Amino acid sequence: VVQQVKVGFLGCGTVGSEAVRILRDRSDAIRRYTGVDLGVARVAVRDPGKDRDLPSDWLTTDAESVVADPEVAVVVELMGGLDPAGELVAAALRSGKPVVTANKELVSKRGGELLDLAEKANVDFLFEAAVGGGIPLIRPIAESLAGEDIRRVMGIVNGTTNYILTRMTEEGGSFDDILADAQRLGYAEADPSADVDGHDAAQKAAILASLAFGTRVHADDVFTEGIRGVSGEDIEMARRLGYVVKPLAVCEFVDGDEVSVRVHPAMLPDTHPLANVRLSMNAVFVEGTSAGEQMFYGAGAGGGPTAIAVVGDIVDAARNLVQGARGPHMSRPALHPVRDITRIDNEFYLRLEVVDRPGVLAALAGAFGDNGVSIKSLIQEGHGDDAEIVLVTHTCAESDMRETLVELASLDSVEEVAAVIRVLGEDE
Ligand code: NAP
Ligand code: HSE
Repeated sequence: VVQQVKVGFLGCGTVGSEAVRILRDRSDAIRRYTGVDLGVARVAVRDPGKDRDLPSDWLTTDAESVVADPEVAVVVELMGGLDPAGELVAAALRSGKPVVTANKELVSKRGGELLDLAEKANVDFLFEAAVGGGIPLIRPIAESLAGEDIRRVMGIVNGTTNYILTRMTEEGGSFDDILADAQRLGYAEADPSADVDGHDAAQKAAILASLAFGTRVHADDVFTEGIRGVSGEDIEMARRLGYVVKPLAVCEFVDGDEVSVRVHPAMLPDTHPLANVRLSMNAVFVEGTSAGEQMFYGAGAGGGPTAIAVVGDIVDAARNLVQGARGPHMSRPALHPVRDITRIDNEFYLRLEVVDRPGVLAALAGAFGDNGVSIKSLIQEGHGDDAEIVLVTHTCAESDMRETLVELASLDSVEEVAAVIRVLGEDE
């Protein structure tokens, strides 16, 4: 028996308009596969005057009325941000309606509370599109790998910054022009500083760490460094050293109880699989003790890829609804402490502008030696006022590197510490 389920959309922009289009175009196929006749009932937007390919009687600016509409059985939140999205989602769950969202900010900051509300109401709260756009990632980690002892999740989870760094690497274009292209292509957030300053990736890393390690990590607990400090000069130097600069998210289970969750640009060997993940593509490695290493790869941003993940969740929620069931949900989290970045070890790339005179190298070596940081390779470039020293360290604690940087900055022979970029993947 085919059952009808009506969906209410909160937001119909880059992702929402594609999700509505797919639901309309694919409704026959979805009905055949699932026995559910999915239709759109209402769509809340901010500006109803915009040109959209939607029946005008679907549109409203009153998002609360969509949540409250008795005809709406599944609520799809695609407006973004915490406010009013958070209260609308909470209201929908409290009233017993399943919710689908792509809003990583909401999931990473209020996800615990919203999952609890969903559990109380015995409905689904689904967010496959929140991480990795169209890549199936949430379900594989939360369900297929539910029995796995996951040790590390590492990858590229922001399409905009990967797009910017890829084009800076391959074409040497300007940051601002390339960002404008990413916005035009629908990859960037409404406020693109969420992408370039790392907050979008931090939100996704918080969600991945929470699912992978059965804990709850808030986005604010993620060490976050954006890509604004990565210059064309460092990208070129990375190439000469055999590295590629990538925007990375790293989530690790450390010493049996703590988790480390961090987002920052990193140099990877150019032979590393993540080094070849180009433009807006995303890829995530999951390392577990039984399955070993698995890589999930695909389109991480943009209307179409994200919308297809949203539609998958809508189909799931609707099917569960008509069957009177609810999908699997995260059991009680373990609440592992988040380890401070100062206690994390990495290799580091440094570019120093120095005064070219005798004794400079000895002074530099002293600053590294004083803090127990060992230098792996060193190149001197230029001379006179243009002298630069580029070096890569062996693995050291972030705290020791920070002490070293303070000491370097105090040396007369160092004019500027022009760049510090973590180096990963040598032993992967
Ligand atoms: P978007 O293009 O800016 O669309 C936002 C939509 O929400 C617009 O339709 C806007 O109305 C509507 N809206 C905003 N505030 C509203 C309010 N107070 N009341 C009613 N409607 C409101 O954003 P998007 O790129 O589709 O992103 C939507 C969500 O998906 C975000 O959480 C984002 O992080 C997430 N996401 C996006 C991507 C991507 O590649 N774009 C990928 C994964 C996840 P108007 O149309 O009238 O402006
Ligand atoms: N702005 C995000 C990105 C969209 O560039 O990855 C996908 O979540």
